[in-house]
Amino acid sequence: MKKLVINPDRKLSKINREIYGHFSEHLGRGIYEGLFVGKDSPIENVNGMRCDVVEALREIKVPVLRWPGGCFADEYHWMEGVGPLEGRKKMINTHWGGVVEDNSFGTHEFFELCSQLGCETYINGNLGSGTVQEMSEWVEYMTFDGVSPMAQLRERNGHKAPWKVDFFGVGNENWGCGGNMNPEYYANEYRRYQTYVRDYNADHKIQKIACGSNGDDYSWTKEVLKTCYNHSDPNGNGFMNGLSLHYYVVPNGWTGSKGSATDFDVNDWYKTLNKAWYMDELVRRHGNIMDEYDPKKQIGMIVDEWGAWYDCEPGTNPGFLYQQNTIRDALVAGVTLNIFNRHSDRVRMANIAQMINVLQSVILTDGEQMIKTPTWYIFDMYKVHQDAQLIESSIETKEIGTEEYKVPDVTESVSEDAEGKLHITLTNLSVDQAAEIETILTDHKVTSVTGEIVTGSMLEKNTFEEPDRIVKKTFDAVKVENGSFTFTIPACSVLHLTVIR
Ligand code: AHR
Repeated sequence: MKKLVINPDRKLSKINREIYGHFSEHLGRGIYEGLFVGKDSPIENVNGMRCDVVEALREIKVPVLRWPGGCFADEYHWMEGVGPLEGRKKMINTHWGGVVEDNSFGTHEFFELCSQLGCETYINGNLGSGTVQEMSEWVEYMTFDGVSPMAQLRERNGHKAPWKVDFFGVGNENWGCGGNMNPEYYANEYRRYQTYVRDYNADHKIQKIACGSNGDDYSWTKEVLKTCYNHSDPNGNGFMNGLSLHYYVVPNGWTGSKGSATDFDVNDWYKTLNKAWYMDELVRRHGNIMDEYDPKKQIGMIVDEWGAWYDCEPGTNPGFLYQQNTIRDALVAGVTLNIFNRHSDRVRMANIAQMINVLQSVILTDGEQMIKTPTWYIFDMYKVHQDAQLIESSIETKEIGTEEYKVPDVTESVSEDAEGKLHITLTNLSVDQAAEIETILTDHKVTSVTGEIVTGSMLEKNTFEEPDRIVKKTFDAVKVENGSFTFTIPACSVLHLTVIR
């Protein structure tokens, strides 16, 4: 039996709710169909937003939504997406399937969606192909309260009051689709563009996010910080509040087949989870570089694209990145979110790619049908960690897997909520071995434990025909004795236990 030791008196960092954030791009059926069907659609909607999807997203308490991209962001010209619908410019979505983008979902629609979801807003600006003036005017359009050309245009377009922009990304993947820049060039451009991302509202400052590295490109992180970190700024953070990191779990790598989302073997299982576990190293090593410049940790690491990326579903448009989601993805999400929780002293926001119908989605739609994926259930179980306090914990692990791909058998993180309840989230990565665990609370005694679990066999998934194969179930096989407790977590499982002392 392995031991999980929790020390409730050792309170570590706050787990920002934004770690449970999402990303939705103008890509495939992510925005159009997935979220937005237009006011005249036969699908039930409020101001064009699908009611079923909004309700399911509210259930998991989406804290923040990043939009409009992704690669799309650095080709997006916001003016084309405001004003009367008939006048909005139609363009080609060159990155994603070459389809026509009619701009019917624009700035006003984004804020309407966020208000229905009750979430914060994260706008990604266009540094790659847009001008400083365009970026600056977008910020003025969204946030200025008074008489100005952009505020008046907003009013003429039907919204007198300004909106709140919580986060603003100055470019996306500028090392690649956002302009193929080198880090020194980007860093100087960042300094210039961010100057004009003005704070018009003294009580609500915009958090500015610089484009960070592609996976393990540590030199990008170093160079951008070297140029942009402002040592003379009394607040320490200088020109930026956050630096992003993008990392996808691509089982076979970027060239050739990435691997099937639904048809895989035990080796693929461990290969995928090994790549998910790699996030821990990435966060630690980028974090170490950030510590050299910013030891007070004033700049947040913003993992604003993460998730599994497989071959798209056979028969679908390859530019739409539509993929299924199995219990393996529930494990990818559970492992990754445990890593973010444990590094929440530096990781301040993360955004799964992408919310609906694209890559590792929490929801899939087909016409008027909608299903929750196994990943949705993980966000549902883990929502208890939002804004909770990370608690010191450790678990005995052993290495499991195949010859080629190893992973720890279990991962965990623990938090304390506002009512003093402890929440343990645990993953069992083994494809066939349950794990018996004894949990000990240092200097505290347990009164009761309740649980919920997401589990299945290796290839299990939800489909439109069978939407409830993988759901969250009650887990009551916990034995409380002498102030501690024992339980067995089955193979291929993600578990949430609530502990009352
Ligand atoms: O999420 C899909 C794409 O992946 C995004 O547009 C881009 O930023 C990344 O390469």
